[in-house]
This record gives sequence, C-alpha cells and structure tokens, in this order.
Amino acid sequence: MLSLRGRFCFGTGLMTEIAIVVLAAGKGTRMKSELPKVLHRAAGRSLLGHVLQAAKVLSPSRAVIVRGPDMDNVAAAARAVFPEAAFATQAERLGTGHAVSMAIEHLAGFSGTVLILYGDVPLITSASLQRLATLVNAQQPMAVLGFEAANPHGYGRLIRDAQGNVVAIREELDATPEERRISLCNSGIIAISDSLLAQLLPLIGNANAKGEYYLTDLVELCAASGHGCGLATCSEAEVAGVNDRIQLAAIEATLQASYRRRHMTGGATLVAPETVFFSADTEVGKDVVIEPNVVFGPGVTVGDGAEILAFSHIEGAVIGQGARIGPYARLRPGAEIGEDAHIGNFVEVKKAVIGKGAKANHLSYIGDAKVGPKTNIGAGTITCNYDGYEKHLTDIGANVFVGSNTALVAPVKIGDGVSIAAGSVITRNIPADALAMTRPELDVRPGWAARYREIKAAKKAAKLKG
Ligand code: UD1
Ligand code: MG
Repeated sequence: MLSLRGRFCFGTGLMTEIAIVVLAAGKGTRMKSELPKVLHRAAGRSLLGHVLQAAKVLSPSRAVIVRGPDMDNVAAAARAVFPEAAFATQAERLGTGHAVSMAIEHLAGFSGTVLILYGDVPLITSASLQRLATLVNAQQPMAVLGFEAANPHGYGRLIRDAQGNVVAIREELDATPEERRISLCNSGIIAISDSLLAQLLPLIGNANAKGEYYLTDLVELCAASGHGCGLATCSEAEVAGVNDRIQLAAIEATLQASYRRRHMTGGATLVAPETVFFSADTEVGKDVVIEPNVVFGPGVTVGDGAEILAFSHIEGAVIGQGARIGPYARLRPGAEIGEDAHIGNFVEVKKAVIGKGAKANHLSYIGDAKVGPKTNIGAGTITCNYDGYEKHLTDIGANVFVGSNTALVAPVKIGDGVSIAAGSVITRNIPADALAMTRPELDVRPGWAARYREIKAAKKAAKLKG
C-alpha cells in the first residue's frame, strides 16, 4: 500500500523509503542522433520523462540518473520531474552493474528499497513498479520484474529452482541451449534493499561472454548469500525498449492508442480517434468534442463542453468551458481561452488571455495580449507585439469591436466599449467608448476604369494587327 512521502508500507506495518536509479548512459547509436536517446520524445514527453513520471507515483525520496559523458542536457529533463535529482556519469560503458556502481555514492545515507530502472523503457507503469517494490522485505531483499517473451532471443532468462524461486539470470550469450528455451525473461528492472545492493555490487565480476559487469549477477549473488529473490511480472509490451526510430514510432503509436481510449472513456467524443494526437499530459474535460486531425502539444487543458474543430494545433494552452477552437486554429504557449470564447480559422494565439465570450473568428494573430470579455476581433487583426527587439503588450478591454484588418501596435491599451474602424493602425491608447479610425481620404474618380479599359483594349488590337 502506498503512503505519503516516499514511504512504502508492508503488511508488517514497516515503512520503507524508495530511491530510484535510472540507467541512461546508453549512447543510442541506432537512433543516429546528436540527442541522447532518452531525450527523444514520445507523446510530447522525453523517454526519460515517461520513466520518471511512472516512478514518481511511488514518491521516491531520491532519484539518481546515470548518464553518459556529454549528456548534460539530460539534467533539465530529469529535474522537471525530480527537482532534487542527482546525476552520476558513466564515462565508460562497462555494463549495467558498472552503471549502477556509478550511482552508489548518491545513495549514501539512504535506507530503503532501491528501484533500478532503464531510461529507455518508457511504457513501464507505476502499478508494475509498485508490485515489484512491495515484494522486497527482510527475508526477500531483492525482486526482479520479468515477462513472457514471444521471442526471448537477446534477453536475459530468469532461471528458477524447483520451488519456482528465481536463482539466476542468464544472458543470451552465456546461456546453455536448454536455458535459451526459457521464455520468462528479465525486463532489467529490479528492486533491492540498499544494504544488499551495497554488499553485492562490489562482488560483480566481468567474467562473461561480453566482458561486462552484469547487474543481473545480483540474483545469483543474492541466492548465494542465503536470501530469496522475488518475481513480479508484466506484459512484454510494457517493458519494450527504444533502440531506433522505428521502435520510437511504435511506442508513440501505443501511447496514442492508450490516450485516445483514456479521453474517450473520460467523456470526450473523438470523431476520428486515430487522427488525433495527444501529449502525455493533455487534460480533457467532459463532453468535449474533438474533430479529426487535431494535434495537442505539451501543456494543454481543455475545459468541459469545449469543441476543438478539425486541423487545429494546440500547445501550452488552457481552453475554457464551452469554448470553440478551429477549424485550422493555432494555440501556442500561454494562450488562455475564456469560457465560450471562439477562436476560428487561421487564428494564432500566443501568450494571450482571451475573455469570456470573446471572438476572433478569422485570420488573426493575437500575441502578448489581453482581450476582454465579449470583445469581437475582426478578420485580419494583428497585434504588432514585436519591435524587432522586445515584445510588448496589447491590452484590449471588454465589449470592444475591432474592425477587420486592424494593426494594433503594442504597447497599446484599448478601453472598454471602443469601436475601431476597419483598416486602422492603432498606435496610441484609446479611451473607453471612443471610435478610433485611421483612414486616408477615399478618392473616387467616376468613369476612370472604363476609360482605362478602352485605352488598354486599343493598344492590344494595334499590336495584333502589326
Ligand atoms: C539487459 C539485461 C538483460 C535484459 C535486457 C532487457 C544485463 C546484463 N542484461 O540486457 O537481462 O533481458 O536488458 O532489455 O543487465 N546501460 C548503461 N550503461 C551500461 C550498460 C547499459 O547505462 O554500461 C543502460 C542502457 O542505456 C540501457 C540499459 O542500461 O538503458 C540496458 O542496457 P542494454 O545494453 O540494452 O542491456 P541488454 O544487453 O539489452
Ligand atoms: Mg537492451
């Protein structure tokens, strides 16, 4: 049973703290990328972020990330989830056991269960981690997470004794033909008491086919020390790793399928679910309708009853209840769309608060702005927020009518109830209830077009003759 503050409660009533160690030193050669593998994203979240979010549910009191050299950028992703995360650098990739030994100094003074995770296994669930962690107790100070593999080739096999206890993990290259027939495999994720880890880690050698320090040797060492090793299991899909971009796309597809189900189950209508892409953190209220071909980037909340019409792209935005977005709308970070507001086709909103019931239905850019309730933004309105050096605020009051093709040159403030004539360029603050208009005199010349047409026609005829 989970309790608060990183403590795990066993049947005995004992409370155990959790620490996580995440192995993320792999270069990810097959990704063919400058970016560390664990920073590649699926559903708007880094692979490492997915693993850390799953682990966070267990409220670990420590998080240690083992990264490779030149992977400083891993820190920001980790700190976004665990601000206090510690980092160990594994300069040479000498195996999973060696990687964990790099982390051990950051566990000094920690007493409890250490969960060892892989940074490139993003589908791991909190539930499996909890099942695994609760298996660890005084009699059984270690447990492994296993799975039945459709094709076990390449995985470490879980070796069990006649009683079914896990007594060893045999890597593919070191396994006998008989052991290779075992389909119960090692996910790589283990839970172990801090004291057993500290005791056994120095005993891991590298006398094996790969010449690596295998973390998996802990199981045999645990049995030799007279302790039991528990086994929790999960599906093969849950512990799928990412090694190349094809596997990354497969993980994306799995996540999207599950998020679509989650939001439909939560009361949203997805007209064509397979065309809607969510981020891991997208929050969708009840009775929301999402039309085809909508993309949600990170940081979006959609209020109850809102409609997101086809081909809209939304990130970092809060959409109020009953609001209507799209078709073809773009909401960028900092867009806060009020209740029942309408943001229509080819309207871009960035870092702007749109009041309740306000409307911007066609072809506009609203950036660094406030728009009051019930204000109507005409087609083609642009907030000129950038002077080439700095961004400035456009502050529009309530019940304002902004005529089509208005340029609002920020910083500028438009009072409540103002009317702005179409085509105006607004460079000064406008007091409440005024009419604002910049418009050159309209010049009308009767008959001019007809005469011009005749001249042009005559010219064309002469050319054809000659
Ligand atoms: C490992 C397990 C194997 C298991 C399989 C599951 C060992 C010896 N074997 O094998 O039993 O079935 O995972 O996928 O543990 N890493 C480091 N530093 C290193 C080596 C690895 O950080 O020096 C990280 C990798 O980035 C990766 C994880 O540890 O996230 C696993 O490493 P990998 O090389 O994929 O191990 P496998 O040989 O697949
Ligand atoms: Mg592997």
